[in-house]
Amino acid sequence: MVLQGKTAAITGAASGIGRAMARKFAAEGATVLAVDRDADALDKLAAELGCTVLVLDVTSAEAAATLAAHPIDVLCNNAGVLDALTPLLDTDDALWDQVLAVNTTAPFKLCRAVLPGMIERGGGAIVNTCSAASLSGGRAGFAYTASKHALLGMTRSVAWYYRDQGIRANAVAPGAIQTKMQFRQAPHAGGMAKYADYFPTIGPQGRAAQVADVACFLASDAASYVNGEVLSVDGGWNAF
Ligand SMILES: NC(=O)c1ccc[n+]([C@@H]2O[C@H](COP(=O)([O-])OP(=O)(O)OC[C@H]3O[C@@H](n4cnc5c(N)ncnc54)[C@H](O)[C@@H]3O)[C@@H](O)[C@H]2O)c1
Repeated sequence: MVLQGKTAAITGAASGIGRAMARKFAAEGATVLAVDRDADALDKLAAELGCTVLVLDVTSAEAAATLAAHPIDVLCNNAGVLDALTPLLDTDDALWDQVLAVNTTAPFKLCRAVLPGMIERGGGAIVNTCSAASLSGGRAGFAYTASKHALLGMTRSVAWYYRDQGIRANAVAPGAIQTKMQFRQAPHAGGMAKYADYFPTIGPQGRAAQVADVACFLASDAASYVNGEVLSVDGGWNAF
């Protein structure tokens, strides 16, 4: 049980990759704080795992204040939204603001809220859910790609500045994973489908649990000398 004795806050824990992280982390002995805005799905997770649930919108000031009040050893900034694969010229201010608020600004504010407590207690681990779109320009739309590139930069900055205070910050970069995310918005007509011929082969889609396994490794002491790193969990998509 590699996370025994650790308290882990996981955002976006009601579905997909975050839910798989909650299951994996709980199985590895962590006390899980499952954070999401979907109260019904969180209730089901609590019934399954007996974990603590926090019904919060990660973009709210309340989310940062609530997490700051908990002793947290591991923070997984995992909640995220897609951008309907929309290109720049079709990206209006509302889409940009929404995607950046959830994918980028919320992790900034949650890290800022949680890090002082981690440092006070001698250290901790941040695991950010980046994306294949953190590493390439042709994996999602404009806003999502920008938001996930920024999240990777934030990961590395935290890793560099706070390493001497016992903080490790790393990221997983999932490829195409079977979750509900891609069905929450219809793809933009002028989006990635239009550029399908330029896409490298994605190959078979991955499972959320496969991402959770890697996040668990990064959160655990097995990765005690891994800091500022991004691990692709994409079946090789990034390599093709
Ligand atoms: N599925 C993929 O192919 C894929 C690929 C690369 C990266 N990712 C990333 O993985 C992460 C998880 O995505 P998923 O595929 O599990 O999607 P999902 O839609 O299944 O789950 C996302 C969860 O985040 C929650 N959420 C969204 N906005 C929120 C907010 N403002 N406050 C609180 N909760 C909020 C949703 O309620 C949902 O439970 C995201 O950051 C996503 O960008 C997913």
